[in-house]
Amino acid sequence: MFNPSKLAISLDREGEEPIYRQLIRYIRAQIESGELLPGTRLPASRDLAKQLNISRISVVNAYAELRAQGFLSAHAGRGTFIAGDNHNGNGASNGNNHASAPETPTTPDRSIREMMRMARKPGVISFSQGSPPTDFFPVRHLRDAITTVLDRDGARALGYEVAEGYAPLRAAVRDYVSALGIRCNADQVLITGGTQQALDLVVQALLSENDILVTENPTYLGMIDIARTRRVQLHGISLDEDGIRLDMLENFILDHHPKLIYVMPTFQNPTGTVMPLHRRRQLLNLANEYKIPILEDAVYHELRFEGESLPPLKALDDNGMVIHASGFTKMMLPGIRIGYLITDGPHYERLVRVKQAADIATSGLNQRAMHLMLERGVMAQQLERNNRELLRRRDVALSSAARHLPPGSKWNVPQGGLYLWVQLPKTGPSAAELYVSAVQAGVAYAIGSVFYTNSCGGHRIRINYGVNKPADIEEGFKRLGRAWRELACDYADIEKSPLL
Ligand SMILES: Cc1ncc(COP(=O)(O)O)c(C=O)c1O
Repeated sequence: MFNPSKLAISLDREGEEPIYRQLIRYIRAQIESGELLPGTRLPASRDLAKQLNISRISVVNAYAELRAQGFLSAHAGRGTFIAGDNHNGNGASNGNNHASAPETPTTPDRSIREMMRMARKPGVISFSQGSPPTDFFPVRHLRDAITTVLDRDGARALGYEVAEGYAPLRAAVRDYVSALGIRCNADQVLITGGTQQALDLVVQALLSENDILVTENPTYLGMIDIARTRRVQLHGISLDEDGIRLDMLENFILDHHPKLIYVMPTFQNPTGTVMPLHRRRQLLNLANEYKIPILEDAVYHELRFEGESLPPLKALDDNGMVIHASGFTKMMLPGIRIGYLITDGPHYERLVRVKQAADIATSGLNQRAMHLMLERGVMAQQLERNNRELLRRRDVALSSAARHLPPGSKWNVPQGGLYLWVQLPKTGPSAAELYVSAVQAGVAYAIGSVFYTNSCGGHRIRINYGVNKPADIEEGFKRLGRAWRELACDYADIEKSPLL
């Protein structure tokens, strides 16, 4: 008989080893010593968590991993049992197995690393990262561009670039954004190491420790990470279907005097929300009235495959309140790490100084290659191709979600960008509780709560439908649905578990 009361004395709550790993060790030891016999039913996760005074997710994760290692089996509607005689197989005999087991990422910095790791794990279909279609990366065009640059510029392409960026690329960015309605000179363009660095530079240049940064809630995980690293206070304002709630924003401004407002007006990450024109104008008016600069993140602006395009905030900004951040990473390829900032006089010099202190300059070779690809029309061609494919993949994701996600799930229908923002039924496992089981089943996603500034969104998940091929999208949803159902059966028996 499984006796959880013994476990309390052996749990080290202050130690380095996560509680769920300790639980795995304990249960394994009981199985190996013969105290727990095949066929023994384990308590439901909620009951065991209560009994041991630990979080339920620890138990859920421990069960999931023990199932993956072949020690436990789950039977829909009946519960979790010690597996028959197969507990020496499938990794159970491999003492290293749990060293590489997935961990549930629940803080932004760990989440980003974990999502990157999951994305590379063989056999796992990863919906978690923020990449555009990897199978569409323009490998040949990039190779040609680099060869041409090296033949043309030789060693000049390999030295230190100036901090502001390679002059022809700055001019090309000016031309590029002018097509979106942004009027600027090339000397207002600062080339950065991706959009991520652009955001970080602005936070460093404009805010001091403990200053307040206002964002949408939920917001981009990378910005939460920046705020924590730079020790600025982050405050999230709820969104409605038109974007950030301006009534709440104004109240917050009046009470707390934030230094910067960060928004993603088009295809907000993670919700996919698009701010309509009237809200864009109202937001600008508000910023202007209280003299608070806006950092506009437009990284998904061009990833539109349906509906009408709207001007970026910077195109509507008559008073120099908006700093525009974007990059060629989502439009083309993340690995080239080219982003840019467009800003007016007062902030520009300071941003250049921070940029120089950060990394001297963005790779001159990559800047030249990017410039050439813009000149050759590769960017425009790539964008068109990607958007056509994103539409196809979105449709596959929508139909797969309808087929495989549990009844009661909800999601948006994005007209662009990369993400489905899914709400799982609140009666079942949370996104964090499901995570390890999902990865064991061969699918990874981004846990919704990590995008919130106040740990909401427990049943939300973000799915990148753009990065995988259609057949893998369907398969990924199928695995996700299966993992959910398996875990939900554990939930169902919790209510009627006779064991404890
Ligand atoms: C909203 C948003 N901003 C910025 C970035 C960073 O992009 P980049 O690869 O250009 O640094 C991402 C990446 O996921 C993002 O989603």
